[in-house]
Amino acid sequence: MTQVLVLNGPNLGRLGIREPDVYGSATLADLAETCRETGRQLGLDVTVRQTDDEAEMIRWVHEAADARTPVVLNPAAFTHYSYALRDALAMRTAPLVEVHLSNPAARESFRHTSVVAGVANGTVAGFGLQSYQLALQAIAKLVGAGTPGSAP
Ligand code: DQA
Repeated sequence: MTQVLVLNGPNLGRLGIREPDVYGSATLADLAETCRETGRQLGLDVTVRQTDDEAEMIRWVHEAADARTPVVLNPAAFTHYSYALRDALAMRTAPLVEVHLSNPAARESFRHTSVVAGVANGTVAGFGLQSYQLALQAIAKLVGAGTPGSAP
């Protein structure tokens, strides 16, 4: 089965209590279960991680590149300024979909720039947990998961 990493950046461990008017009431555990269940339906083996630490996030991106693992990434605030994360993602060897729970384009101007978008296959934003489900569907399509003759 195709492995997929769903990586989440800073403050996303606080989902559920963090600005619920913006990010909803689902917790990170709810998000992880939704992703794993969506993955099962799509023939993807999904692992969900979260970190507040830029260096740890970059290590995970290197790990994904080395293992040719597709990534769904919510870079959170790193989206807007982390050139180090962008440079790590530029080395990717498998599909990358950027996700956001909220729609950054409809929020403060500092959120309108994504330094990550240019190295991703695409971005899904503004649909809450469904952003992740749509991103996993895109990954499944890109890797041909569940289709005859696709990689194990
Ligand atoms: C976010 C949007 C970012 O602007 C913000 O810094 C986050 C969450 C989202 O999922 O909507 O932490 O990535």
